[in-house]
Amino acid sequence: MRVVDIIAKKRDKQPLSDSEIQWFVENYTSGTIPDYQAASLLMAIYLNGMEKHETVALTMAMAQSGDLLDLSGITDYTIDKHSSGGVGDKTSLVVLPLVASFDVPIAKMSGRGLGHSGGTLDKIETFPGYNVNLDEETFLRLARETGLVLAGQTRDLAPADGKLYALRDVTGTVASLPLIASSIMSKKIAAGANGIVLDVKAGNGAFMHDVESARELAQMMVDIGVSIGRDMVAVISDMNQPLGHAVGNAIETIEAIETLRGGGPKDFREHCVEIAHLMLKLAGRGTRWTERETVRDEIINHLDDGRALSRFRKMIEAQGGDPTYVDDLSKMPKASIIHEIVAEETGYIQQVRADAIASAALALGAGREKKDQKIDLAVGVIVNVKVGNKINKGEHVAVIHANHEEKLKEAIQFVKQAITYSNKPVDTLPLFYDTIYGQ
Ligand code: URA
Repeated sequence: MRVVDIIAKKRDKQPLSDSEIQWFVENYTSGTIPDYQAASLLMAIYLNGMEKHETVALTMAMAQSGDLLDLSGITDYTIDKHSSGGVGDKTSLVVLPLVASFDVPIAKMSGRGLGHSGGTLDKIETFPGYNVNLDEETFLRLARETGLVLAGQTRDLAPADGKLYALRDVTGTVASLPLIASSIMSKKIAAGANGIVLDVKAGNGAFMHDVESARELAQMMVDIGVSIGRDMVAVISDMNQPLGHAVGNAIETIEAIETLRGGGPKDFREHCVEIAHLMLKLAGRGTRWTERETVRDEIINHLDDGRALSRFRKMIEAQGGDPTYVDDLSKMPKASIIHEIVAEETGYIQQVRADAIASAALALGAGREKKDQKIDLAVGVIVNVKVGNKINKGEHVAVIHANHEEKLKEAIQFVKQAITYSNKPVDTLPLFYDTIYGQ
């Protein structure tokens, strides 16, 4: 095979065969195919798309470029979740122990990611000593022994995706649905779960700005998973305003623990209950419940009576973290400046733009623009209002946690841009737009 022929074929809008895709991925990963030819093929894919069988072949080739985790020693059926990334999205911190509290083992590899705030790994690292760098053997042993493990991805998980993603990042080829779908799914497939719940965000604070493109991406990932023999379900959830109130790292972890204690913001709690519900349904634990509300009541009970919190505490301890932080939230990292933003008008909240709140958090230092950039765990924004809320002039709408005056000034501008007002009642935003089940 010659890579130039593969590039020309895709340039001419012809579908590639499975063996051509596999050959390309193998030879690019091993360094035989140079970046300029791989970039050219990526651009041809970006412009001309891929058929379903091509996305499946690309996913499998990238998944098989490294280790395929074998979770069968933990239980006969494992489940995983993935969020396409949103502002204030700390769902994994709640949902993983919540599902594990139903004796459904969870072995999850998470990322740090680039963006306005850290990823799940950064948030969990607010517990001093917590070890996210587990080798495969320890990862599997902890999952077997404790039923819940949350660690970083090993270098060997879909390395072809890591290499191709870095090239896409610098060649304007990230925003391609088949490339995004196969990139995400290659890591999920390599991570070994039998059932996968996808949370695809739609809105100004998400990768996909509108519900239609989020639905298209979700459907594509569901189809890939089903073709590879996985049980799949995807939700399309709103990301026009932040999820919950807190956007940052330590403040999001605190909000997650409050939710595990049976409190937390209403929208975030409801979001977690729905994701946990879908995970439990996949795991088969839902089959003995016929009434949807009964399942939900049971999940809510596990939040309210401390069972989910106790699983979370156990996980922190098992991975070397200091569990006293779970009991005493005042130990969490704190910012030196607390600045309150008040409502500029009496009326209704028209918008709390997730993208502008994300910019505020990034300006404060809560996220990273480049890999390996150090982030400030203590800073962030707590937004007290939701679209549709009635508000009086002078009431607190947000609190900024900052460590630098200059960064604070920038964040204030973003928060003020984010929150807009109306003198007429405004409809609330839905939490979910759709659910797509794999057939
Ligand atoms: N996240 C991924 O893992 N891959 C993409 O291509 C986009 C988002």
